[in-house]
This record gives sequence, structure tokens and C-alpha cells, in this order.
Amino acid sequence: MPEARIEKDRIADIYSKIAPSYDLWAWLTESKARDRCLELAAIQSGEDVLEVAVGTGLAFERILATNPAGRNEGIDLTEAMLIRAQKKAAKSGSRNYRLRVGDAYDLDFPDNSFDVLVNHYMFDLLPRHDFLTVLEEFKRVLRPGGRLAMVNMTVGERWYNGLWDRVYRISPALLGGCRSVLLVPQLEACGFQHISREYVSQLAFPSEVIQAEKAFGSSIRARI
Ligand SMILES: C[S@@+](CC[C@H](N)C(=O)[O-])C[C@H]1O[C@@H](n2cnc3c(N)ncnc32)[C@H](O)[C@@H]1O
Repeated sequence: MPEARIEKDRIADIYSKIAPSYDLWAWLTESKARDRCLELAAIQSGEDVLEVAVGTGLAFERILATNPAGRNEGIDLTEAMLIRAQKKAAKSGSRNYRLRVGDAYDLDFPDNSFDVLVNHYMFDLLPRHDFLTVLEEFKRVLRPGGRLAMVNMTVGERWYNGLWDRVYRISPALLGGCRSVLLVPQLEACGFQHISREYVSQLAFPSEVIQAEKAFGSSIRARI
């Protein structure tokens, strides 16, 4: 797993530049994994759902369509991405949602607030030593038995999948700061249960689709 080479304070700047072309990139390389993740998340109307790092709202608009009677919250670090998500959400006709600037490291929600937490292509931007901190934060806001549905750029299973990590080594910003990661061991270390992982490759871009649950009786690390 390569180490992250984009500092957190540069992310909003990079994604403000990428925002206008992001949906085309996502359609070409990420749409299969995103679709599969939402299928496995099996969101039921009436649930409380949080998407962390909504980006331009590609998953969020689908969440709104499947959860008309529930509560839908979305946060992202980058305002330019959120503006696009707002436009998609407004077109959906749904009124059960809120989209705001927010940070995955410090979610502005009480403990045990959500039935489902969705997170796509964000951990591949974060430093490895922060993975557990952010997963603890996800666990804190999920209810016991709550589902985590995530997708990450991952380590390729074929030689040609390594192309994207080579691009990252030359210029991390070209890939929006994303490099391949493996989250299952971190989820296990964080105490998530019923963890499943599927591998998806689209245009040689390798993704892992992960589902996991917050254990009943799971302890929550106190916030400082
Ligand atoms: C590769 S894009 C993925 C967007 C969206 N999840 C998708 O799959 O289309 C990464 C997104 O993560 C957001 N992001 C990165 N670090 C974040 C953090 N600490 N908290 C919230 N959002 C973050 C960026 O602003 C960007 O919109």
C-alpha cells in the first residue's frame, strides 16, 4: 500500500479543480463498484442514512431515491463538490435531506445516530495512520447493528491494475490524491463484524466494495 502524499489541507483545493470533470471520471472507472456497494447496502425507506464524502452526489441522489421516507445526511470537505451534489439532490424532488461541509475526522452527529453509513473513495486519500481514527468516528455515529457500506481504490489483482499506482507515483494530484488501500484489516481492528469484500475492476481501475456492521455492545472511544 503506497503512503498518502497529499496533505489534508490541499484536498479541498484539488477537488475544487477536479469537480467539473469528476462525474466523467467516476462513470468511466468507479460506477460499477459504486452501484454494487449501494445494491449490497440495501437501504430501506425510513432508515437514517449518512454519506461521508458525498462528492458530486453520485451515490447521494440514488440514496434519496431509495429512502424517500427516511433521513438522509451528506457531508464533504469540498464546497465545490457539494454544490454539484446540491444540484442533483434538488432535481430529485426529495426534501428529506441535508448536505453540508463537514469532516470525516470529526462528524457533527451524536453517537448511535445512523442505520447506514456510506463512504466511497475517501480512505484512498487519507494517511494510513489515520484509518483507525476515522473508522472509530464512523463506528461512533452508527447504531449497534448499523451497516457500513464503502468503496476504496485498492490493490490490483492483475499486473495492468498497477498502472494507476504508477500514475499516482508520478503525480498524486492527477488521481485526485487516491492510491490503492486495503481496509479489511483496519475494520477488523476497529471491531466491525460481518465484514465482506468484493473486488471490482473497471477500465483497469481496481476497487474494493466492503460491507460491515457495528457490533451490538460495541464500545465507543470517548471523544476528547
Ligand atoms: C474521490 S472523491 C469521491 C467522491 C464521492 N464519494 C464519490 O464516490 O463520487 C473524494 C471526496 O472525498 C472528500 N474528502 C476527502 N477527505 C475528506 C474528509 N476528511 N472529510 C470529508 N470529505 C473528505 C473530497 O472532498 C472529495 O469530494
